[in-house]
Amino acid sequence: MVLVLFKYCKQVINHGDSDNLIDDSMSIFKEFFNLPAEDKASLYSTDLNKSCRLYTSNFTYETEEVHFWRDILRHPCHPLQDHVQIWPLSLKILDLICEGLGLEQGYLGDELSNGQMLSVNHYPRCPDPSLTLGLPKHCDPNLITVVLQGDVGGLQVYKDGQWVGVEPLPHAFVVNIGYQLQIISNGKLRGAEHRVMTNPRQARTTAATFINPSPDCVIHPAEALVNSSNPPLYKAFKYVDFFGFYTSDPKTVLNLHKLQA
Ligand code: OGA
Ligand code: NI
Repeated sequence: MVLVLFKYCKQVINHGDSDNLIDDSMSIFKEFFNLPAEDKASLYSTDLNKSCRLYTSNFTYETEEVHFWRDILRHPCHPLQDHVQIWPLSLKILDLICEGLGLEQGYLGDELSNGQMLSVNHYPRCPDPSLTLGLPKHCDPNLITVVLQGDVGGLQVYKDGQWVGVEPLPHAFVVNIGYQLQIISNGKLRGAEHRVMTNPRQARTTAATFINPSPDCVIHPAEALVNSSNPPLYKAFKYVDFFGFYTSDPKTVLNLHKLQA
């Protein structure tokens, strides 16, 4: 499921300058990626745990079989409490989702959502889009991801067997449901499968903020959503273990956590 929040989002932010703030942030992100390669080189790292890490393609360029047309500046913001005042939108959206699922207030808070990762994606102009993608078909591993996709399209969602483009709307945030919400909601919500196309005419820069559980947080279907006619579909696990499986094989990770019927 993908929710595209546009006018609504401005109301949530409810801040006269928010459009300017979004534009300024985007300009800075683009400026960074337009710097000469030698200026950016000091931030390049293969260490997955490094803060403010610049890398390319998907997880690890050196070992992955297929390379994607993307550079990433990734900045973890842990713990979320120290950063949430800068970008409270994601937690407000989680509160609304919590209410919509009929879970007690705050159920998706604390340990379940106290990690945040900012990922600024840059997809350079691609001379031959038939040869590669910006990002392959995937579902995000976390709870929700809030994406500022800027003014260039390229994000697609897989819906009813078809790829549907997510239209870039000015100052809109796209909200992707991740695997953890699928598990916690016991399948009531579905992780959004999505991918990013390349563009032969122009570069594209996006900013994604991932809301994650803390590594040792134990994830399981919420008790309130499980009963004899809705038995739990997934087993309990630590997020850090799930994430390990996800980075080695994002396609099979959910099946590994399913309970057998
Ligand atoms: C991601 C992602 C979408 C985009 O970073 O996981 O799906 O449009 N990004 O950059
Ligand atoms: Ni994604």
